[in-house]
Amino acid sequence: MTVLITGGTGYIASHTAVILLQQNIDIVLLDNLLNSKAIVLDKIELITGKRPTFVEADIRDEDSLDKVFAQYNINSVIHFAGLKAVGESVENPLSYYDNNVVGSLRLLSAMDKANVNNLIFSSSATVYGDPERLPLDESCALRTTNPYGANKLQVEQMMSDLCNSNDKWSMVALRYFNPVGAHESGLIGEDPNGIPNNLLPYVTQVASGLREKLSVFGDDYDTVDGSGVRDYIHVVDLAEGHVKALGLFDSVNSSNEGIGFEAINLGTGNGYSVLEMVKSFEEINGIEIPYQICPRRAGDIDSCYADASKAFTTIGWKAERGLDEMMRDAWNWQSKNPQGYEE
Ligand code: NAD
Ligand code: WQD
Repeated sequence: MTVLITGGTGYIASHTAVILLQQNIDIVLLDNLLNSKAIVLDKIELITGKRPTFVEADIRDEDSLDKVFAQYNINSVIHFAGLKAVGESVENPLSYYDNNVVGSLRLLSAMDKANVNNLIFSSSATVYGDPERLPLDESCALRTTNPYGANKLQVEQMMSDLCNSNDKWSMVALRYFNPVGAHESGLIGEDPNGIPNNLLPYVTQVASGLREKLSVFGDDYDTVDGSGVRDYIHVVDLAEGHVKALGLFDSVNSSNEGIGFEAINLGTGNGYSVLEMVKSFEEINGIEIPYQICPRRAGDIDSCYADASKAFTTIGWKAERGLDEMMRDAWNWQSKNPQGYEE
């Protein structure tokens, strides 16, 4: 069994690749290196002792995909490739629709031709928009508020439509909450371009002196202390969720009948506020994080956290790592790699 991982050198994919290699599962990583670097392959090899097969290609290039499916004996795909900055998607929606929707369409089309019928897709809690209720379960209303979220929903819809068209398909959309942290080795982690949009990368850059202080976007939300509440999940827990989800395909590998479409939340079920996150980082790592309260960030919601029970009942997964490990590993990665993957 070989698993094709699109966006394979990216943040979440690289952590997933490590676990798959450690479990002796063959993988092929495919990436156009738009938002990642080939040096990640060296780091994966350092951690696992195995060098993953790598194909530099764009998912929108269907000929390249056809060649990959012809060359390797692939029976499942984990599809991480895509653009992920919400603000950028508002400014430049066409590039987001092209990369995320057209790219996924090409991938599904190549899978169809190659008769590769098992897919795990990186969806996002962003599909729930302003939550209908909390905690968010998979039956909550889907109402995205930006092009990035719309892309995720459209890809989920394509997956579901394909499953309705033919029962050969098995398609799982994993809806991630807020991925943070890094592999405990400090060899792989998140390497944001420029000024980080996300909270924890910003906090770690303040801790390392790259940024002066954190802007806390709003202290007047209806939350425990007025700052925004999110469900932060350790990236290694998230990666393990993908490996567990692959197990859903075991039963179908011998038959022609797939499991159809499933959407599954990957979160911890716990919500923490921005100020709680800052305090936790300070306590775990012994570093003070200067911050100032700023106006709310446009488009932000007050609280978002998962009902993660479906992940437990369907794939036997639950998050094992707490805030302490998230903070420790995020700082371990940042302090060992102040410039990310730059030498
Ligand atoms: P990332 O940017 O580190 O990884 C994405 C990878 O895809 C990058 O290596 C990039 O070079 C590659 N890529 C982009 N467009 C491509 C294309 N057209 N062809 C081939 N490769 C391409 O991001 P990540 O945080 O690891 O996110 C992975 C997936 O998870 C994305 O689909 C993202 O939308 C989704 N997601 C991320 C988060 C998060 O907060 N990080 C939350 C929910 C969902
Ligand atoms: C978390 C909290 C901010 C930065 C985004 C995407 C979402 C998903 C994950 C892909 C909020 C506050 C942040 C800062 C702050 N990505 N904050 N100062 O907004 O929950 O989700 O990333 O699917 O789609 O929207 O994550 O880390 O940006 O923010 O106060 O400098 O931290 O206001 O309350 P968010 P985040």
